[in-house]
Amino acid sequence: MTEPGDRFVRAARASDVQAKGCLAVQVNGHTVALFSRDGRMYAVDNRCPHMGFPLDRGTVEDGILTCHWHHARFDLASGGTFDQFAGDVRTFPVQVRDGEVWVDLAPHADPRAYHRARLGDGLERDIPLVLGKAVIALLDGGAPPSEPFRAGLEFGTRYRLAGWGPGLTILVGMMNLVPALDADDRARALYHGLSAVARDCDGQPPRFALRPLPGHPADPAALGRWFRRFVEVRDAEGAERCVVSAARAGADPRQLAEMLFAAATDHRYIQTGHVLDFTNKAFESLDAAGWEHAESVLTSVVPGYASADRMEESNEWRHPVDLVGILERAFDSLPQALSEGRSRRGTWAGREALVVVVLGEDPQGIADALLGALREGCPETELAATVSYAAALRIARFPTTNEFGDWDTALHTFTFANAVHQGLRRVPSAELVRGVFDAAISVYLDRFLNVPPARLPETRPSDDPRGILRELPALLDRQQQVNEAAAHVARYLHSAGDPARLLAALGSLLLREDRDFHTIQTIEGAFRLFAHLRKTAAAANVLVAAARYLAAHAPTVRAQGQTFQIADRLHRGERLFEAQP
Ligand code: FES
Repeated sequence: MTEPGDRFVRAARASDVQAKGCLAVQVNGHTVALFSRDGRMYAVDNRCPHMGFPLDRGTVEDGILTCHWHHARFDLASGGTFDQFAGDVRTFPVQVRDGEVWVDLAPHADPRAYHRARLGDGLERDIPLVLGKAVIALLDGGAPPSEPFRAGLEFGTRYRLAGWGPGLTILVGMMNLVPALDADDRARALYHGLSAVARDCDGQPPRFALRPLPGHPADPAALGRWFRRFVEVRDAEGAERCVVSAARAGADPRQLAEMLFAAATDHRYIQTGHVLDFTNKAFESLDAAGWEHAESVLTSVVPGYASADRMEESNEWRHPVDLVGILERAFDSLPQALSEGRSRRGTWAGREALVVVVLGEDPQGIADALLGALREGCPETELAATVSYAAALRIARFPTTNEFGDWDTALHTFTFANAVHQGLRRVPSAELVRGVFDAAISVYLDRFLNVPPARLPETRPSDDPRGILRELPALLDRQQQVNEAAAHVARYLHSAGDPARLLAALGSLLLREDRDFHTIQTIEGAFRLFAHLRKTAAAANVLVAAARYLAAHAPTVRAQGQTFQIADRLHRGERLFEAQP
């Protein structure tokens, strides 16, 4: 009999369980495996927490339940696992009353805490399936995307001696994509980002944080000067102490951004743009996770500053034209150009003409045109967006006859230009404007990638834009559908297709492939620039560039997506193996 308040429900006759040793029963929608051992009764969820194999087909020996699928082992009494790839199996309180087995199926006391802990296990042990399950369960349980994101950020900044790397950059890129994605794809995006962080940190020594300078903190301006001085001589520790001291002393987000962006642009296009890109992503991570993480996040990018290649030392930036010399002379004129332009803000309308110059063959002309635009009132952010658009056009016009690896050359320039643009939206620092000039010169150096230029797609409207979108997945199931994918995107947009649906579709196509750092950067950067140019004719070309890059790098084997799929099916309670002999 069930008493009021009694949560136990009848599950089976005790004699049946004792006769067989193990019995799988359906109770209130749960499949429960009942085990009788040494005079005691046990009840566990019959789905192995690893991949759902039925545990009633497992073996119990000396109190240890072993799943026969991948041999995960569990303490039969507590459900605790000895194999972290599996996770603990759920056990249920069990009682024998008058020859009947009763079980209590009440849910976990705090499922969110459990899944948070599993997220930590997945990060520490680099187990994508565990990460997939945890992030699906957390979001499904009502956690905001920022919760698993923050966990990944804290882990990634602490457990990688080399500091901020591609894994954290992917995580932030994925977090940035979340608002554009369909609801079903949000957990998948975070899964990719968290898996990238776990992979980056796997086997790496941790970072030990430096303490800030003692006593009364130096003022942010002095710390900023010292930071640049120490980066100049490649002293990572000295530089890091300046950053942690500035953050601890309460330097505001704008001061911190000015400090880091200035040092990131003291030399030309350092580390092929990665330092500035990582720095921008670090700031974006704080917007999402909270500025209380500023010390750990911002210090993690500093090692990259000290060790970065500087284009002053590269052949192509010095010969046959001394591009660095052109830039340094332009920088001498920068303060005056900015000051002249400030009184003319809002009057500049030279984007199209400037793009033509930036894509041209005259580096001195490019530097002069950028200065001229600033003098004419072009805002710093608009100048950066214009150069970023020119960089996107290099991808949109990239002929497939080029060497495959050169997609990355074009991508690096675009990613850097996008980071400068986003950085200037954060803080319109005069030092960071130098990054716009670097990006423009990199666009110039990439001009060989558009010889001959691929044609931008024709714009023949369709009366069925949704049909165009539906064709995209099948198209990207085949290799090298670069121009076809571009044509679909252009046609969709010129057929009054809803841009939001296209962004969600491109995001979904990105997420179904195995992670590629550069493809993720392209899509995320293109979405940002598209948003900025949305009301202009140029916007379509940005997504054409994104679709071309994605199509050039698809299909992959999609193994990572399959892992996520398994996690998702398990979460939804689908039968994975139960029907198999
Ligand atoms: S160990 Fe049980 S399904 Fe893999």
